[in-house]
Amino acid sequence: MKVLILAAGLGKRMKSKYPKVIHKLSGKELINWVIDTAGKLSNDVAVVLGHKAEVVREVIPKWVDVFIQEEQLGTAHAVMSAKSFIDPDEDFLVLYGDVPLISERTLEDMIEIHKRSGADVTVLTAFVNDPSGYGRIIRDSSGNFLRIVEDSDLRDDQRPINEINSGIYVFKGGKLLEVLPKIKNDNAQGEYYLTDAVSMMEAVSTYAAKDPMEITGVNTRKHLIILESYVRKRVIEDLLNSGVTIIDPDTTYIHSTVKVGRDTVIHPMTFIEGYTTIGEDCEIGPMTRIVDSEIGNGSRVIRSEVYMAFIGEGVSVGPYSRLREGSVLREGVRIGNFVEVKKSTLGKKVAAQHLTYIGDAHIGERTNIGAGTITCNYDGFKKSPTFIGSDVFIGSDTELVAPVRVEDDALIGAGSVITRDVPKGSLALGRARQVVKEGWVYEKRRKKK
Ligand code: UD1
Ligand code: CA
Repeated sequence: MKVLILAAGLGKRMKSKYPKVIHKLSGKELINWVIDTAGKLSNDVAVVLGHKAEVVREVIPKWVDVFIQEEQLGTAHAVMSAKSFIDPDEDFLVLYGDVPLISERTLEDMIEIHKRSGADVTVLTAFVNDPSGYGRIIRDSSGNFLRIVEDSDLRDDQRPINEINSGIYVFKGGKLLEVLPKIKNDNAQGEYYLTDAVSMMEAVSTYAAKDPMEITGVNTRKHLIILESYVRKRVIEDLLNSGVTIIDPDTTYIHSTVKVGRDTVIHPMTFIEGYTTIGEDCEIGPMTRIVDSEIGNGSRVIRSEVYMAFIGEGVSVGPYSRLREGSVLREGVRIGNFVEVKKSTLGKKVAAQHLTYIGDAHIGERTNIGAGTITCNYDGFKKSPTFIGSDVFIGSDTELVAPVRVEDDALIGAGSVITRDVPKGSLALGRARQVVKEGWVYEKRRKKK
């Protein structure tokens, strides 16, 4: 079966510079929710793009076919622009790029009803509390389907009808090709409505979705946040069911794109976002934000920010650490308070426990970075790398002026400014020699009197 996703519209009601379907719901673009679901049903998935098509194309997977609707003249017009994609001998499923939560299960049930009824088209409907904004399903007194009327074309007595059109249909391909050219745009919005294709069919069946959330369309930012909070609860529920402890679901935000292993405990006020994977037996939070990162089994991240970082097993981060893009922390690393790491690899069991900046550095194994160490990686013009070997001891308050290399087993005295390479096993000191003047203070005081 072919699946076509309509996503060319402007999304005017979002009041956005960006196309509506790339707005994210729980870490994933609206259109990718629909594509992922469609991909479970069929290998033959296409999208219709129009408004800022290039921007949308960048976020969708390459295996999806793209049709361009130059002008957005309505949903029927959108399907017309993908006419060559319709197979007259096959069923044809239409999905909307702004109806993200439609499930594989519901679509399968609908397709089943469609096949059994032998109808020309099956419409997915739903009964909702607030039908405003949606097309309504108009039935005769015996309950037979008559037609779909758009919200803006409703008569006042039709407004209370609470069975709505989800915008999702399975057509017989041949029948759809027959009626498409006959659709006119003589309605309130002057658009070619796909709903008219439904009204023109002889045999129409309907299937009502059990959970109205699944067919909720995102037309405004308010719809988006309603879905966001719904998905958020669902994600937390799924994690609890899979063996993850979430101490306070009310203050925990986890995207649908996140994976968390068994027996991990997530403490309050924690945000785990994007394509993040967390292993088993980890302790995350409180007050932590992790974005697009990977964290190995048995690691702890407390009161910290982690962005695009890779953390191995048994690592300890925080409190108050900041890992930025390209931070790689191997097994057993310990990063403490007020330590920032960027584009750097820290080998097994490296410790940097206090007040440190590590940027553009490569550090071997078991090296200890003393309190207040700074890799001076920027000279005002360009970034330079720092290399530190294994089993090195960097004394507190050391400045490593990059580019510079400190080889294995070296020891750097506290307070040093290191501007030249330090060979293997050497002691390096880069500071003024201490001067002591005995009794100087007492002498001074006596003179003052
Ligand atoms: C549409 C349905 C309405 C239904 C509702 C469900 C029509 C005429 N109306 O209304 O019955 O209750 O969805 O959410 O179909 N699009 C294009 N090209 C266009 C116009 C729209 O690709 O020229 C795409 C949009 O990007 C969007 C989808 O089609 O993904 C629906 O368009 P939208 O304008 O949001 O339709 P609604 O007014 O919500
Ligand atoms: Ca819509």
